[in-house]
Amino acid sequence: MKDYSKANKKWWNDVTPIHLRSKLYNLERFKKGKSSLESIEKEEIGDVKDKSLLHLMCHFGMDTLSWAREGAIVTGVDFSGDSIKLAKKLSKEIAVPARFKCCDIYELPKVLDKKFDIIFTSYGVLCWLSNIKKWAKIINHFLKKGGVFYIAELHPFTNILSHDFKIFYKYFDKGPYIDDSSGTYTDWNEDVKGFTYEWSYTISGVINALINEGLKIEYMHEFPFTMYDQFPGFMEKNEKGQYVLKNKKIQIPLLFSLKATK
Ligand SMILES: C[S@@+](CC[C@H](N)C(=O)[O-])C[C@H]1O[C@@H](n2cnc3c(N)ncnc32)[C@H](O)[C@@H]1O
Repeated sequence: MKDYSKANKKWWNDVTPIHLRSKLYNLERFKKGKSSLESIEKEEIGDVKDKSLLHLMCHFGMDTLSWAREGAIVTGVDFSGDSIKLAKKLSKEIAVPARFKCCDIYELPKVLDKKFDIIFTSYGVLCWLSNIKKWAKIINHFLKKGGVFYIAELHPFTNILSHDFKIFYKYFDKGPYIDDSSGTYTDWNEDVKGFTYEWSYTISGVINALINEGLKIEYMHEFPFTMYDQFPGFMEKNEKGQYVLKNKKIQIPLLFSLKATK
């Protein structure tokens, strides 16, 4: 287990400066006040004013700070030391208060003693989880009674597809896989060395992990668009700036969102 975490942490620390200067994250626009949140989570979560919000796997904190700008009292957690350093710096620079913790998600109960109104996590998180049941336990642990867990994420259906849009992987294969492909999702041509361990969960696996913790699933939604160029050459941007498949005959789910309450 420790081995997985070490390799993955190294990769995330290495890609953090690349992501920071990437078009996808568009840091300058964020610093000028633009929210980094997608309309899906903004509309579905709604009013966060004065609510305590725990953001799991927050990277360098743009989404965490965007929720803070909306009035939430935020705590962001990530195991990448470089990401958390940047998140803290960003919080100071834009004068938006936030608490950031550098911690592996599975170790969080040892370092954080608080319950939250909202737990939020999004876009590119499930594949880094070595144990989905333990993940759901962590969520339950940190949620107040009556609190909301919300995830917006790449749809697990897309796990079967390679970057060049071929059916390549097994939907029911849990992993871990070793991914030593080059580049990163902000730019596939970046020279990124190293490898990661990744996992794959079915949609029922995610839902059942939460149900088994006693959480009530309020809804799950599926969307035919995503927010990055997941299949280069096969996607185009629509008028809302969302990435959709060029071939309109192909209709597959690219994102999903889920809300659960305690
Ligand atoms: C795709 S990013 C986060 C997505 C977020 N929406 C964003 O784009 O900023 C995934 C994050 O998960 C973090 N991560 C991966 N495994 C983790 C773990 N076991 N514990 C805590 N953080 C982890 C990585 O460091 C990375 O910052």
